[in-house]
Amino acid sequence: MWLVMSFATHTDVKIIHIWFSGWEYKRGTLHCNGLSLEELRLRLRQKYGHLGSPAFVYSSGILRENVKKYKDALQPLGGRGKLSYSLKANSNPHVVKELRDAGVTAATTVSGNEILMALKCGFLPGEIIFNGNGKQSWEVEMAVNRGVLLNIDSVFDAHRLVNISKRLGSRAKALLRLNPVINVQTHPYLVTALADSKFGIEMEQVEEVIKILSSAKMHCNKVTTSNLIELRGVHIHIGSAISDVDAYVEVAKAASKTLRHIQNSGWPGASTINLGGGLCIAQDIPDVSKDMCNGRGLESDLSENPKKSSDSSTATVNPPTPKELVGAVLPYLPEQAVLILEPGRSLVATAGVVMTEMIGVKRNGDKEFIVVDAAMTEIIRPALYGAVHQVSYVTGPLMQEPAEFDIVGPVCESGDFILQRCQLPRPPTSSSSSDLTERPGSSFVIWTTGAYCSSMSSNYNLRPHVVEVMVTSSKDFKVIRSPQSFDDLVMKYKPQYFSVSSSSLK
Ligand code: LLP
Repeated sequence: MWLVMSFATHTDVKIIHIWFSGWEYKRGTLHCNGLSLEELRLRLRQKYGHLGSPAFVYSSGILRENVKKYKDALQPLGGRGKLSYSLKANSNPHVVKELRDAGVTAATTVSGNEILMALKCGFLPGEIIFNGNGKQSWEVEMAVNRGVLLNIDSVFDAHRLVNISKRLGSRAKALLRLNPVINVQTHPYLVTALADSKFGIEMEQVEEVIKILSSAKMHCNKVTTSNLIELRGVHIHIGSAISDVDAYVEVAKAASKTLRHIQNSGWPGASTINLGGGLCIAQDIPDVSKDMCNGRGLESDLSENPKKSSDSSTATVNPPTPKELVGAVLPYLPEQAVLILEPGRSLVATAGVVMTEMIGVKRNGDKEFIVVDAAMTEIIRPALYGAVHQVSYVTGPLMQEPAEFDIVGPVCESGDFILQRCQLPRPPTSSSSSDLTERPGSSFVIWTTGAYCSSMSSNYNLRPHVVEVMVTSSKDFKVIRSPQSFDDLVMKYKPQYFSVSSSSLK
């Protein structure tokens, strides 16, 4: 169904319409794949008490739909089109497994632990890509030993890979991660291929890296047999939350050119082109009114964004579809190329919400605040990128007039806001009741929090990691991460060395 949601800009209130299939209001209450979130909320409260809220709620149905869009888009390539999920967007193994079961064929990882998690989720070593500008030796060793595909990010990375492969006597499989200098309109923190970005090999250094790799040979009985490093192709990831597929055309051209060069430099069978991830979803564009980046050019970036709607200072973009992306790049790829796409956000963001309960409403100066129990510890994106995550009631107090609120969390930071200047019907308040949680209109969902929220969450203020559930049908859900307790938090501090009664830590 179409969700009609209100949100605020610095000038006025906008109503936007976003298609989130799988989420639906029935009789005034939000349902996920047919399951009432009000019912889910109460069941989590019963099961976990105060640890039952806030909660991440994911829809298995939406995860599957999102995978299908990519699979359909890659279909013209047959077996040469690969979908690799970027684990960093959400590394909950149940989410990862759901995506794998739905047809994701590979996993893109950025740490040794993500490699281990991908293996645990059933990916074979040959289906795992290990990327990173600062891989540590133990991580490279593990990747080489297990036969994971590595992205070489720099001259030092190439030397390290050669040295480790020699020491282990193992041939490593690799791609070159290139930085072809392609700017994209997104938040400055999400751009990865500027001339002075820390990622990838600048084009002028490609030759040097190829020389390092081609001088490393395998020896068998003192006879040189072949290249120690099996260079399979190239990788380029230009950034995240990208709304312009034309940028990927530039990427495809640069990748194809370097692939030909690699083929002519001793790896004739190199055929892989990994175009990274990066597609935006409907709410990716930062709200310029927050200017959380200390004036680093957000406003001018956005004013040049061709896809930004002209009547809004914030986010209404039509995100490009996977089909549009593949359609745009295909003509620029060599005929027999293997194409890898490695999205994160566009696979998981819309499949998840944070369900949160109201703690109270207060007024300071001209502002009214709705204080909820979710915070920047679960959703750091508004504070870090000025990102907009919209907020709706689980069950709306529909008869109330809308008013303007800042939705904020309980963390002891002024930057702990979820959504500023948001128009919502006034929630129920009562000075006589200290617990509002039983009343309709006292809980909310925070949208598109399936990506980069749980995986970026923290224990700041000693807040625990919160419960996560996956809705699997109209009647059922499963807990896919139990909430952390105080004991979980304190355990690693070796409680025996400080003074607490042992009973309180049981
Ligand atoms: N491939 C590589 C090499 C990446 O570095 C990334 C994300 C992806 C793929 C997946 O990109 P996606 O499709 O999710 O845009 N924390 C930020 C996003 C950082 C993305 C980092 N790299 C946020 O909350 O927006």
